[in-house]
Amino acid sequence: MIDFRYTSLSDCKLIEFEKNHRLMGNITSINEHSEVPFAIKRVYYLYDIPGGESRGGHAHKGLQQLIIAGSGSFDLELSDGISKMKMHLARPYQGVLLPPGIWRELVNFSSGAICLVLASEVYLEEDYIRNYEEFRESKILPPPQR
Ligand code: TYD
Repeated sequence: MIDFRYTSLSDCKLIEFEKNHRLMGNITSINEHSEVPFAIKRVYYLYDIPGGESRGGHAHKGLQQLIIAGSGSFDLELSDGISKMKMHLARPYQGVLLPPGIWRELVNFSSGAICLVLASEVYLEEDYIRNYEEFRESKILPPPQR
């Protein structure tokens, strides 16, 4: 189990999947333990999100996720309590791997966008940290570099 208190933005990875380009359309497959380093227990997706809307605004204590723009685009704003990073997701063959302990907001949804999420655990409200101050205080800062 990854200890969410110690994770940082350097543990978040942009992954590019195989595209399988065909004239009649493309196909991308994602397999547990190869493209995704965890067993996939849940798949969920956000859809019918009004253009320009925001979602997220929380971190997880144990959940690992792979976040994909299945259609359309949105921005992922990430924080480990010290640094912030913004990623633009607009390709169905790319995903961002998030370990636990990363605060995320999903912003600037294009209209009709689909945010597809592969998750390592079933839904559990106790796994959420929904207060940013509480999140920041839970993180253990790395020692200063010499
Ligand atoms: P939440 O994860 O807070 O969504 P977002 O961060 O995108 O705004 O979930 C919103 C609500 O949806 C939450 O109160 C419970 C429900 N929910 C489920 O029932 N199952 C799930 O797998 C998820 C992700 C959410």
